[in-house]
Amino acid sequence: MKSGDLFGNSQALCPGMTLLPGFVDTRLMRPLIESILSSSPLRHMETRRGHFMSVKTSNCGSLGWVSDRRGYHYSEIDPLNGNPWPAMPELFQKIAEQAAKASGFSGFRPDSCLINHYVPGTQMGAHQDKDEKDFSAPIVSVSMGIDARFFVQGLERRGASTSVELSDGDVVVFGGPSRLFYHGVRKLKPSCHELFGASRWNLTFRKA
Ligand code: SIN
Ligand code: FE2
Repeated sequence: MKSGDLFGNSQALCPGMTLLPGFVDTRLMRPLIESILSSSPLRHMETRRGHFMSVKTSNCGSLGWVSDRRGYHYSEIDPLNGNPWPAMPELFQKIAEQAAKASGFSGFRPDSCLINHYVPGTQMGAHQDKDEKDFSAPIVSVSMGIDARFFVQGLERRGASTSVELSDGDVVVFGGPSRLFYHGVRKLKPSCHELFGASRWNLTFRKA
């Protein structure tokens, strides 16, 4: 974490949604992600309708978000190997807690971290994060690698959208009035990042 970014430099994107530009030093994250993926590898999750998501995912923490023919849910077990998900590294917890605090949500203790891996040409359609039990906790979303255009639409999927380019190290926190806002990621353009190559990683911290 780059201290000094903690309280300055934050931007309100909409009510309850804050962008913390360059909040995370992502060089420290890469080996931790590699270690998680060595036990719970990336995979294309299937949707209820039998499609596969273009983005690849995995998880760490006591609960992992999964999608399958039953729909979306949280699981203590990685269905790929039958084991618990890898533990959430302390650095991840610390970043999530401090980003939440810097955005006005003190005491955030995530028990789940969804790891999304994008390559150019992939995207994430508009959706709400609503599979959690308690919407009083915010969502903390960390971007790494190549840039992506993140959009937010409010409580209706079809409303006008606000969008922002997210770069390596940026964090978006959303809670309170924007906790259930529809959001997604536009199709990634071809690009290359000095550390992550033609990849984007997104870590989504939640209290499941
Ligand atoms: C998500 O909302 O699930 C991912 C957002 C992102 O990749 O920035
Ligand atoms: Fe989301």
